[in-house]
Formats: sequence, C-alpha cells, structure tokens
Amino acid sequence: TPIRLADYTPPPWRVSTVDLAFDLAIDACEVTAHLALVREDANAPLRLDGEGLELLAIALDGRPLAAGEWRYADDMLEVPGARDGSVLETRVRLRPADNTALEGLYLSGSRERGFLLTQCEAQGFRRITFFPDRPDVLACYSVTLRADRARFPVLLAGGNPAGAGDLDDGRHFARFVDPHPRPSYLFALVAGHLEHRERDYVTADGRPVKLKIWSEADAIDRCGFALDALERAMRWDEQAYGRNYDLDVFHVVATHDFNMGAMENKGLNIFNAKYLLADPAVTTDDEYRAIEAVVGHEYFHNWTGNRVTCRDWFQLSLKEGLTVFREQQFIAALHVPALKRIEDVALLRRTQFPEDAGPLAHPVRPAEYRAIDNFYTATVYEKGAELVRMIAGRLGAAGFRRGMDLYFARHDGRAATIEDFLAALGEANGLDLAPYLAWYAQAGTPRVTARGEYDEVARSYTLQLRQSTPPTPGQPEKRPLPIPLKLALFDREGRLLPLHLDGAASAGATECVVVLDEAEQSFVFRQVETPPVPSLLRDFSAPVILACDYAPADLALLLAHDPDGFNRWEAGQQLARRAWQALRDGRDDDASLAHWCAALRRSFDEASLDPALLAELLTPPGEIELTEGDTAVDPVRVHVLRERLERHLADTLGDRLASRYHELSAVGDDDRLDAPAQARRRLKRRVLALWALRDPAAAFAAAAQQYARAPGMTDRLAALTVLVHREAPQAAAALADFRARHAEDALALDKWFAVQAQQPGDAALARVRALEADPAFTMKNPNRVRALWGSYAHGNPSGFHRADGAGYRFLIERLRALDALNPQVAARLATAFNGWSRLEPGRREIVRELLAGLAAEPRLSSNLAEILARLLAG
Ligand code: ARG
Ligand code: ZN
Repeated sequence: TPIRLADYTPPPWRVSTVDLAFDLAIDACEVTAHLALVREDANAPLRLDGEGLELLAIALDGRPLAAGEWRYADDMLEVPGARDGSVLETRVRLRPADNTALEGLYLSGSRERGFLLTQCEAQGFRRITFFPDRPDVLACYSVTLRADRARFPVLLAGGNPAGAGDLDDGRHFARFVDPHPRPSYLFALVAGHLEHRERDYVTADGRPVKLKIWSEADAIDRCGFALDALERAMRWDEQAYGRNYDLDVFHVVATHDFNMGAMENKGLNIFNAKYLLADPAVTTDDEYRAIEAVVGHEYFHNWTGNRVTCRDWFQLSLKEGLTVFREQQFIAALHVPALKRIEDVALLRRTQFPEDAGPLAHPVRPAEYRAIDNFYTATVYEKGAELVRMIAGRLGAAGFRRGMDLYFARHDGRAATIEDFLAALGEANGLDLAPYLAWYAQAGTPRVTARGEYDEVARSYTLQLRQSTPPTPGQPEKRPLPIPLKLALFDREGRLLPLHLDGAASAGATECVVVLDEAEQSFVFRQVETPPVPSLLRDFSAPVILACDYAPADLALLLAHDPDGFNRWEAGQQLARRAWQALRDGRDDDASLAHWCAALRRSFDEASLDPALLAELLTPPGEIELTEGDTAVDPVRVHVLRERLERHLADTLGDRLASRYHELSAVGDDDRLDAPAQARRRLKRRVLALWALRDPAAAFAAAAQQYARAPGMTDRLAALTVLVHREAPQAAAALADFRARHAEDALALDKWFAVQAQQPGDAALARVRALEADPAFTMKNPNRVRALWGSYAHGNPSGFHRADGAGYRFLIERLRALDALNPQVAARLATAFNGWSRLEPGRREIVRELLAGLAAEPRLSSNLAEILARLLAG
C-alpha cells in the first residue's frame, strides 16, 4: 500500500537525545542505543522502525523488559509501557559483511582490508537501530565507536570529536557529539584503514575548521582536487548566501561501493569515489567538473537539507531541487555561465523530459510512493532546481537572497515543507508565490506555443502564447502554470531591438520577461520598426517545451547573432531537430539542414568563439531528445538518421575538420587543467568524432596516435571512444592496452566497460555478455553494474533496442538476479524501460510481455515491484 502526502500526521513520539555505542567488527557489530523519549500524543503507544534487526537486549528506564512488554514484528518495535521522559535502551546485532543492499551499515571492499560505513538516507537508519526513522524527528546525537585498533585504525562519525583513546585487548574508541539537532537520515559512521589529506579553514564568522578528505591508501594522492573544491564551495556559500560551516571538523570519505553519487551526512559526507577522487591519468575533464559540483552540492546541503531539513519525504525537492540550484550557481560563478546552462538544460532534456513524458511521470512533489528511493529522480532534482531558478528569477538576486535569509532564520533547526519555502521567499518580498505551488504538484512538461505577428501599419508586434500540459498517470486534467518567458527581439541584421511592451515599465531595454499564466495570452510590443525575429525563453527561463513558428532562416540568424550564449546554442538545436525530422520524413525541400550546416560552418571559423561553446554548437540533440513527443519510435532508425545528420555537417566542414584537429593537437597544453585547455580538448573530441564520419581512415590513424600519446584520460578516452564506436581496425589493440594499463584501477576500468557497452548497434549485446566474464566484473559493485549494464540499457539506445528484443530479454534476466542483491540499483536500472510505450508496436509488445512476466514473480523487492507496476500501468 502506498504512502500518501495527504495522510501526513506529526510524529506521536519524538526523541530529544540519542546516545549510540558501536562495537564494530566485519561479521557482527553490536549497537547499543539510549533514546530519551518525548511523548506528543497521549494515545499513541511507542512504535519504532527497525528493519531486520537482531534484538539482543531491551530496557526501559534502566529496567530490562520481559517478553510480554515489547513486540517486534513487521519492521516495527512496540513498547506500550513507554512514558513521556522515558529512556529506552536497546542492543542489536548487525551483520555488515552480509549487507549487499548497501543501505544501513555495510562493508566496502574486501573482508581483509575493506572498511565499514553507513548509508541512511532515506530509510537506512532503521537497519542500524530502533528509531522513529522519519525526517521530522530531530535529535541531538552522541556516538561512541569501539573497535580493534589494528583492523580499524580510523573511527569517524558526524559531529565534533569528543574524546578518543585505548581500551583493553588492542581495542580503541572515539566519541563524537553533534550539538545540532538532526534527523536520523543524516547519521553516519566510517571505520577502517583510511588515510587523509587535510587543510585548516577559518569560516567568515571566525570558526577554525579542520577539513579532512579520506580515502584508501592507494588513492590518497587523488584527494587534493576535492579539498580545493571544498574550500571554494565553503567560501562561495559564505559570500553568496552568508552561510558558514558550523562544526569544528568536516570529514569527507570516498568509497567504491555506493548506491548513489554522494551523501551529505552531518559533518561526515560520504562520496562515491567517482565523484571525489581526481587524477588526470584517470579522470576526464567532464568528471573534474562533476566532482567540483558534487563536492559543492553535498557541502551546500549543510544548510539546505541539514540545518533546515524536510518534514517528510514528499518534500525531498525542498532540499534536493534547492541544493542542485545552489550547485549550479556555484559552478556558473566559477566557470562559463552559458556553458553550464547548456549542460544543465541538455541533462534536463535527456533525463527529466522523458521521465515527465512516460509512465514514471510524477510531480516534483510526489503525492504518493511505495519505495521512497525510487523518487531520487531527475524530476525531484533537476526539474526541482528549475523551479527554484524560476522563482529566484522572479524575485531578482537581491530579493531571492532576502527570501533565503528569512527561510533560514525561520526554519533553522527544523523540518520544513515546500509551502514554508515559498512563504518565506514571498513574504520577504511582499509577494504571493502560492501560484508556483502548482508547478510542484503537477507532473508533465508544459508545452508553450508562440506565434508572432507584425503589424506594419501600427508598427507593433504581437506575441501570442498558449500553454498546455499533456496528461500524466493519475493526472488527466492539467491547469495553466505561471511561465516566465525571457525574451528579446532582433532585426533582420541580427541587432537587438529596444522593447516597448504594453503595460510594462523599463521601456527601451532589449530584454524582458513576460509571464504567461493563463492558457492563452498575447503581448503587444510597440514602436517595432521592422518585422522582428524573437529570441524566446532566453537562458531557458522555464522548464517547458517551446514551439515557435520560426522560419529556418530565423533560427540561423539567432544561431549567428544571439549574444545570449544559451539561446544561440538553442537555435542550433532547434534547427538540427528540424533537419533531422526532414531527413526522417524524406522532405528534401526543407531548408533547415542547409541553414544549420551553413551557420555552423561560419561559427567554425569565428575566432572569438569559445572552443567549448563551439563544441556544443556542433553537437545535435541526442537520440532520446530527438524522439521527444514521437510515438512508434524505432531507436535504431533514430540513430542512423542522427548519424546521417552529423555526416552532412562533417561534409560541410570538409577539410576544416582535419586542419582544426591538427591545430588543436599542436597547442601542446594537453596536460593542463585550466579552462582554455579543457575547452580545446572538448572541441578536439568533437572535431575528431565528426572527422571520423567523413574520412575514417585518416581520423582513425589520428585517434590511435592520440590514444597512444595522450597525457591524460580526457584525450585517451575520447580517442578510444571513436575507435570503438566506429569499429576502427585499431580498436582491439587500444582496448587491450587500456585494460592492461588500468588493470588495478576501478574508476578507469569502469570507463573501459562503459565505452564498450555503448558501442552503437547490434554488436553491443555480444560485447556486454563477453565482458560479464571479465574477472573485473561483479554484480556486487554498483559502479561496475552501472558501467556495464547501465551504460548498455540507459546509454546506448541503438544497442539496447534491438529489433529482436534480445537486449530487453537480457536486461530482464539481469534485473531478476540484481534485485536479490541490491534493490535500489535494480530499480534504477529498470527505468531503462521508461519509454517503452512509445516504441513501435513490435518492440512494444516484446517489452510488455517481459515486464509483465517479471512483475508477476514472487519475492521482488518493493523498489523493483513499484517501478514495474508503474511502467505497466502508465
Ligand atoms: N542526498 C543525497 C544527495 O546528495 C542522495 C542520497 C540518496 N540515497 C538514496 N539511497 N536514495 O543527493
Ligand atoms: Zn542532494
């Protein structure tokens, strides 16, 4: 039975202080908990969550309880005798080495050398001890860790250090006390052989803090970049939001065994190694940027998530959408804002738009769930961030800061809701933001249609806008939302026109925002001297799908002239999409392709253009984006047509490709990490891929050489990708070299698995099967599973969607096995079937039958069962 937002009631019992003591060992740990209880509801007996716990002892107010005085069944411990002010003591046994779900307390690495760690969000704390495991129960934690010193030299928990020392029998202890009340999902501990890099930091408000990044010994030299990034993030949050860190130590730990990206546990962040460890020999430029972003993200949670937390898990986007937005601002402040915006919107379109358009669609604030882990989605994170951005745009920078200050002041140390957030932002600015709540409640991507009409006599330009949102599961009817549209007008020479909008101030500006909040509205601009070309939805001012009756020449004009880097790119994306559609429908009379290619040929030679931006301009929308809104999709044909589109571009660019490639290779800054060097590598990668479409033999030879000589992973992987994906004769040797070169390096090996799993077309499946036999493949490691199976199912449409259904059958078998080990990772992998109902009928029927077969099996996890049920119902 699902849990519903509408059924929320406040907790009948709270906990004021929690004292935890852990006796740690690989096979069996004992956890002793003292909970100081506060009764809120005189009629409710004490009920605590507890999943799979082996209860060894239980006492109330110091008195051991007899068998009849408690009951533990269905993941609930009931103690009817508990009173307000009681202290409950429990002792349980955990088996971390048997925990394959990687939720609760588990072992990372080998029994001999690995370390113990925890993951509690969302509901892992109940696998560690009995507790009201819900985010609106905030308590003060003190934690004592005890273990054998030789096997577990490092003992870490969240909070300030509060003593450490020796015990009998070679054991030692460490104690941590956290003065800040917090929910149980932020609990963490780490114990084992770890090394660290540290730095002294002083916050803007004068607190000295030790920053420590921990990893296993073999990777300790890879922690420096994250340490720098952490310091940048801390400074930025002080300057941009006035937020200071609030403990004496800040620990960050890297693990290779992690279900997600990273976790913001109070004072003890835990990271998937992929998002923390950096080394040019194994880390690509894209990954460097991702590491900086995730380090920032987890740090920023200390205020948006930890100090102000969520009342319940329906409010997840309150912390995640807001923190992704803050992370985006941080990266934009450090790098090129337009480029960051392009990357974020591309990600939204690749991941969130399909989610919003399929059977798994849900609002940013879902109304119900079975397994909350299934709602750590692109909708909650990325669309949630877009909503915050939209509201921040409405308030302006100063107004948003005022609102955030009030939000922190009002809700610090408490659990809040999305209503609270909107109320604080609105009240600080004398505005009612309640209309934006509809964005949180309504699933589906709104479609906005724009039509412009120029009146030569009146010299006015009327922009007519309509919006509608297609139905989503459980929400057949949709209402209009407030949609801010940032826009500008150009004349035919590509010059910005001053704007005189009826009823608006700031006449004469060249950019303005109109808010469409009804199904249909018109906006009239006066004193427009020539028929204009509108640049709409600048900077992607709202997460909508915009259709505008542009002529291809209009888009080409924007692609050539729009100073808004984002909309310049966007014009190219729209042109490319139309060109792709024309190829698909066999419409030779469509001018889009010619305009797209011609405009890009000009951009290619534009000296002042950032090479990274050029690389993005030269990349058409991805295979998944291209089918947005289509039915009867044949992903293999989509791939073939997209490649044909790229080939036209490659032919247009002609010999420029080879010469630009050589130029970029000759700069000789290949080992540097600064922005210009990264931008050149990005362009070089794109140019090489296009060149390989036009002149494979020459490009392959260059790629093989680039592979061999590359000083870092960015160039090496780019070259390997071209060789493998284009089935170059040099591919096998490069793959063998890579496998041997990085035999001991998990993060590099993941790339080796992924690049092969993403080889387009029918050959991929045989490769994936063969790779399962590689000794480095294991189903127990989520990164490896994602590298091989995830890259195939999620990142290789033409390989996965074979017409014969073999890809689907393969994935279904693997899901069955994986679910028994790790339900969270299995459920995530199953979302690869998201678009199934929009496939052409042959594939659709195969998938339907397979999904129904798997869903009918007994003993599925609730995670996977929920995803399958929603896929089938949608
Ligand atoms: N809060 C983490 C973040 O920074 C994500 C953790 C989610 N974990 C999970 N098992 N659902 O985004
Ligand atoms: Zn987060």
